[in-house]
Amino acid sequence: MGGRRAGGWALLLLPLLGAGAARAAPLCNVSLDSDPDLRWLPVLRRFDPWLLRHFLTRIIDEIVPKWVHAVIRPLAAELEFFIPPPFAGEIQGMCNALGMSVGDGILLNLAYEATAFCTSIVAQDYKGNIYHGRNLDYAFGDILHKITIDVQFIRNGQVAYRGTTFCGYVGLWTGQSPHKFTISGDERDGGAWWENAVAAFLNRNYPVSWLIRDTLSKSEDFQSAVFKLAGTPIIADVYYIVGGTMPKEGVVITRNREGPADIWPLDPLDGGWFRVETNYDHWTSPPPFDDRRTPAIRALNATGQHNINFDTLFQVLSVKPVLNNNTVYTTVMSAAFPDKYTTWIRTLG
Ligand SMILES: *[C@@H]1O[C@H](CO)[C@@H](O)[C@H](O)[C@H]1NC(C)=O
Ligand SMILES: *[C@@H]1O[C@H](CO)[C@@H](O)[C@H](O)[C@H]1NC(C)=O
Ligand SMILES: *[C@@H]1O[C@H](CO)[C@@H](O)[C@H](O)[C@H]1NC(C)=O
Repeated sequence: MGGRRAGGWALLLLPLLGAGAARAAPLCNVSLDSDPDLRWLPVLRRFDPWLLRHFLTRIIDEIVPKWVHAVIRPLAAELEFFIPPPFAGEIQGMCNALGMSVGDGILLNLAYEATAFCTSIVAQDYKGNIYHGRNLDYAFGDILHKITIDVQFIRNGQVAYRGTTFCGYVGLWTGQSPHKFTISGDERDGGAWWENAVAAFLNRNYPVSWLIRDTLSKSEDFQSAVFKLAGTPIIADVYYIVGGTMPKEGVVITRNREGPADIWPLDPLDGGWFRVETNYDHWTSPPPFDDRRTPAIRALNATGQHNINFDTLFQVLSVKPVLNNNTVYTTVMSAAFPDKYTTWIRTLG
């Protein structure tokens, strides 16, 4: 065991050399007690408005297909019909402040729903503590590095929940309900992403990141969060990874738009002390040109259940190609220790 572990550490540390710089994401407060259209303004003030508008416009132009612009922009006139509270008011408020059209605000929020490649890990240590980590990989790292923020959502003076997002984006791909559960989302590409997502959006299904935020806001415990994430109609297939506070509370939910395709829980009594999800169904093999799963599993095996903690989980998420040129940020979290939630902005090369 000792020998294996020592060998594992050598394996783990070598690829780390040259893993690039990491800095903590800026922490912002958003007050849920303020009106939706006003609550993000203190966050926007931290950025140069001209630069922010330039970044956001570039993301819309380069990611969202032109036919989607034509379909989505007119929805601004019926914002409340297509977009539930508080998202409609939040998008409207940010657009007003930035001098952007509301149609562009909707496009921006859809843009981030597409093409997020990621790695998520949920793991249980030998004492039963649950750790949850994720890398978010996305093209446009040059922009997204600059606008990645950790947000504490404040209700009645308390942190109701916390998450990581990009300035201008009201959804969350990563978040934590303190002392309850943590959630990350990884894209599951079913093909024809935009066609299906736009159709489902017009049918008023939730964007996948809005369901994460809504679950963080409303679900009372791990079980009800899993139930809500598994069953609520959404605009695209996705993987939801959820961690709780008690032993065995960790699961990968493979989602179709209408409901769950598969539920894959931790099984610590039978060797399943961690689950790794990238962007491929866990019952299939990842394609050889994008296998981030095997290196992550190898690094977790080398770490061992006795040694898994916030730091070693971060190291696993720093092994190439789990960490790669598209990795924008790494978050490590554990709902039982909410103050330890940390996001590192990654820059490789
Ligand atoms: C954010 O809100 C929390 C809880 O009310 C408070 O303790 C903290 O000082 C606030 N932080 C900032 C940067 O305003
Ligand atoms: C990880 O360890 C398990 C259990 O020992 C083993 O079955 C699996 O092949 C290992 N995977 C890798 C990628 O090292
Ligand atoms: C990442 O970018 C660097 C520098 O541009 C390049 O040398 C390296 O091959 C890239 N790595 C991957 C995994 O694409």
